[in-house]
Amino acid sequence: MITIYAPASIGNVGVGFDILGAAIIPINGALLGDLVTIESSNKFQLINKGLFSKKLPKKTEENIVWKCWSRFCKIIKKEVLVSIILEKNMPIGSGLGSSACSIVATLVAINEFCNYPLNSRELLLLMGQIEGEISGSIHYDNVAPSYLGGLQLILEDTEIISQKIPSFKNWFWIIAWPGIKVSTAEAREILPKKYQKEICIKNSRYLAGFIHASYSKQPYLAARLMQDFMAEPYRIKLLPNFVKTKKKIKKIGAISSGISGSGPTIFAISDNINTAEEISLWLKKHYLQNETGFVHICFLDTRGARKIG
Ligand code: HSE
Repeated sequence: MITIYAPASIGNVGVGFDILGAAIIPINGALLGDLVTIESSNKFQLINKGLFSKKLPKKTEENIVWKCWSRFCKIIKKEVLVSIILEKNMPIGSGLGSSACSIVATLVAINEFCNYPLNSRELLLLMGQIEGEISGSIHYDNVAPSYLGGLQLILEDTEIISQKIPSFKNWFWIIAWPGIKVSTAEAREILPKKYQKEICIKNSRYLAGFIHASYSKQPYLAARLMQDFMAEPYRIKLLPNFVKTKKKIKKIGAISSGISGSGPTIFAISDNINTAEEISLWLKKHYLQNETGFVHICFLDTRGARKIG
């Protein structure tokens, strides 16, 4: 029996639309991600458990785990007879890489169960393809950090899909999911099909500057450059009181903030635990829309998908 945990992630990280992603873990050590347990069986079986399992599609064939299993079997040309338990701890459509958590945990578990027929590049390519089928187009900024850990820069080079870049160890990442759903496919659909040259140049400048600041260890420069000109202006309307929230958390002391993935989760960064706690309290009180919403103060999860137990 194998149990794999795949952590939640923040897609885009403000400045890198579709090409920058960060895996996260609450500072209290709690797990924030999905778990997939796999064991041999005489027929394929899928059991859904966990806080958000009721929100999963009723038909097994529509479950992401089934899609992963079915694609994997096709690739290795063998029907893998297994019983799979998905512990769905991540809310669907939250902007925290919920689908990526399920995809990554399932494919890592099944690949290990079958004695690694796919190498890590092949596995990541498959993760990206399946993510693309669910959300409308391939993007690796959730699957790559959830699989490989840390802050990932997506390269999609002929040989290297993604690489870890240096991050600031004293940064606290505060995330607040308001308890409502935003479909990634829909949040991608509302973006312009084309961008003006000036926006492309500005975006390149900020992204290159952020990567430079990360390598040259300039945290405040990096934080100032974490600005989103590609998606945030069009997605503001999907988040409750986003502009007011951003202003308020900046006033409390956040050195940066933005939309996590396609929203509605918001993330903020602080390099001071007291400020992080103050931001967390404010978000709990003012950003959550119902009792299912949550706020966590996190570190980057540098390990990515891993065996549990
Ligand atoms: N990069 C993706 C988007 C992440 O912003 O649409 C989705 O979580």
